Amino acid sequence: MAKTVKARAAKRVKKKAVAATRAKATPPARPPRRAAKPAAKRARGPKKAVARERGLVATGARATRATAKAERKATKRAARGAGTPTAKTRAAARTAARVAPRMSRKPFGAAGKALDGVRILDFTHVQSGPTCTQLLAWFGADVIKVERPGGGDITRGQLADVKGADSLYFTMLNHNKRSITIDSKHAQGKRVLEELIKRCDVLVENFAPGALDRMGLTWEHIHALNPRMIVASIKGFGPGPYEDCKVYENVAQCTGGAASTTGFRDGPPLVTGAQIGDSGTGLHLALGIVTALYQRNRTGRGQKVSVAMQDGVLNLCRVKLRDQQRLKAGPLTEYSQYGRGIPFGEATPRAGNDSGGGQPGWILKCKDWESDPNAYIYFITQAPVWGAICDVIGEPGWKTDPDYATPAARLPKLQQIFDRIEQWTIGKTKFEAMEILNRYDIPCGPILSMKELAEDSSLRRTGTVVEVDHPTRGKYLSVGNPIKLSDSISEVKRSPLLGEHTDEILKKVLGFKAREIKEIKDSGALSAPQRKPAA
Ligand code: COA
Repeated sequence: MAKTVKARAAKRVKKKAVAATRAKATPPARPPRRAAKPAAKRARGPKKAVARERGLVATGARATRATAKAERKATKRAARGAGTPTAKTRAAARTAARVAPRMSRKPFGAAGKALDGVRILDFTHVQSGPTCTQLLAWFGADVIKVERPGGGDITRGQLADVKGADSLYFTMLNHNKRSITIDSKHAQGKRVLEELIKRCDVLVENFAPGALDRMGLTWEHIHALNPRMIVASIKGFGPGPYEDCKVYENVAQCTGGAASTTGFRDGPPLVTGAQIGDSGTGLHLALGIVTALYQRNRTGRGQKVSVAMQDGVLNLCRVKLRDQQRLKAGPLTEYSQYGRGIPFGEATPRAGNDSGGGQPGWILKCKDWESDPNAYIYFITQAPVWGAICDVIGEPGWKTDPDYATPAARLPKLQQIFDRIEQWTIGKTKFEAMEILNRYDIPCGPILSMKELAEDSSLRRTGTVVEVDHPTRGKYLSVGNPIKLSDSISEVKRSPLLGEHTDEILKKVLGFKAREIKEIKDSGALSAPQRKPAA
């Protein structure tokens, strides 16, 4: 008996020893929680955890449920005869399910902004680039504007109207951004820039051709530092004979086809007030950037996004290239030049105020046109409302008269028709005419001055015209975000002062210690070089 007890005790001791050895060799089923990453690491690129946080990747049970649901849907579609689900469609369904985030239950407008979590390294200046990054900032991106120490973006001081304050030129193009000053050609400045590159999603620049490379920031170098970074550039021209040229707004309008097709046939080419070269190209670039961000969700890598101002303007002048090709088939009958019997040349002519489409239009005088340069209305003789037009202007006979009743019959007589309509508009203010014509669904629009637009109450209500307060210049008007998203509502915040957020960015975005910040500052990389006192 004693022997059995002893044997059992020995067995227990042996079992315990084996268990202890196993415990040492086998890692626990759940690894201990990892220590929190330092702030700088956490801020780095949108890895899986960040993507999950942003709702881009469904995980665990949610992913499984979503995948199963997507597959069920594909099978049902097939059952309805919408095609057999192949391995490819099933894989597509699985991919779609993986990237589909859970639907927010928050009220519209309360679920953050569209580009929350996207960080932009904004190396832009003047107008084209800043319009692009301002749009991204309005959609919620954290836009860090890098400026040269001392003066910053040249527009801060251009067309100044308040002494010592940033100009309207600058403030109206740089809302919702943060500003850091960095001398990009200084060794310590480069160090800071490279750290920013590692932590941002997009770099946007519109330097003269080659300037970024001369700073040492080639695509290869940036891509090696941060393979997820999207590098977006505006240049005047794409590859070709003019690729090295510097370009401003009007150069783009002239080389992109706008100037040759704007103005009157018997006058010189004209540039337009709308900044289609600068702001238009900024818009194109913004679309390129969000598209590249979207693709990065799938590929995981960045890419180059380039827009040439010439290309952007030509894209906006697409209807004029349409007309260029139509010339081969005969005269452009909707141009008033045709009605006047003036022959067409080899290129799309300037069309004055002719409408660019198939419904003839013109600018007509209204009451007080002699004293008010904007007392005019744009009037379109849209075919479906021709009868109403005839009634309004007092020419009911034109409804059935074969010389006027059809659009084709009217084309050679446009000048005479618009002269007659003008006899009606000239007796009314542009707003009275608009009011009457709208009752009959006749398309028209008063020529609104900038003063009238600035005072327009409906534009104020929609936030298209906003009043902004600025610490050094006071209150001013600006154009808010013209693109309205119902779940990402833009608020316009004042533009930053030069270098206003330098410390905040060094500390919170880059995670530099106080000692390192002092070292960088002492090196002179963030401040303007001291001028030597005159001897
Ligand atoms: N630190 C140090 N140097 C800086 C700097 C910084 N933070 N920011 C800019 N610079 C330097 C550039 O590296 C460049 O130096 P480099 O010529 O020795 O290489 C220099 O400043 C001038 O830059 P650049 O872009 O050439 O400015 P510019 O005033 O001579 O030309 C434009 C202005 C707009 C004509 C030109 O930038 C351009 O053609 N851009 C592309 C088209 C465009 O966007 N045009 C529309 C503007 S609204």
